[in-house]
Amino acid sequence: TQIRAFRKTLLDWYDAHGRDLPWRHDHDPYHVWVSEIMLQQTQVNTVIPYYERFMAQFPTVNALADAPEAQLMKAWEGLGYYSRARNLQKAAKQIVYERAGQWPQTAEGLRELAGIGPYTAGAIASIAFNEPVPAVDGNAFRVFARLLEIDLDIAKPQTRPVFEQIIGRIISPDRPGDFNQAVMDLGASYMMAKNPDSAHSPVKKFDQAYLDGVEEQYPVKSKKPR
Ligand code: ADE
Repeated sequence: TQIRAFRKTLLDWYDAHGRDLPWRHDHDPYHVWVSEIMLQQTQVNTVIPYYERFMAQFPTVNALADAPEAQLMKAWEGLGYYSRARNLQKAAKQIVYERAGQWPQTAEGLRELAGIGPYTAGAIASIAFNEPVPAVDGNAFRVFARLLEIDLDIAKPQTRPVFEQIIGRIISPDRPGDFNQAVMDLGASYMMAKNPDSAHSPVKKFDQAYLDGVEEQYPVKSKKPR
């Protein structure tokens, strides 16, 4: 079927050309989590050195839970949005002191941790725990809106569950974490918001908006949601 062909094309491309990023070297939930929080408002190339210093300084969730706040804030200097760092330590304390060091292993459970919303929960659950759930951020909205010509307004809160359901039917049940990260790489390398290069995309034959010459019309995003 189309879905199977799409999955295989995407994952074969990811195996050959996915980016080698420091947080992709293993599936440790601590590594996945810290990287996803850093990547929320900061670009990949900026995050890399911060991530490496952070792991050298706070190598485990226990080390992060017990770190002096001043040391944590110093490590975060330059990344901005300091509430991310405070929530990171809050969640580390939740895991260590309220959950005896046990991570929630599902997206639903992960959402009980400080600072973890639907996107981050999906990313950690799929990458670290192999749960077949989507990780829907701006990137996934854009990629799937174009592939399927979905013209729902992504500024409206009711649109997210529709995308989650659609992507949930397409995601690889065997390799959900790689599937989600392949979508991120696709959005970064070919299906960019501005000046996309879909003509060279590994999934161009599945890209309806590209095939119709209307990719820059997607995703639909109103200024004032209502
Ligand atoms: N952006 C958000 N999460 C990412 C990841 N795991 N890899 C690359 N870019 C990302």
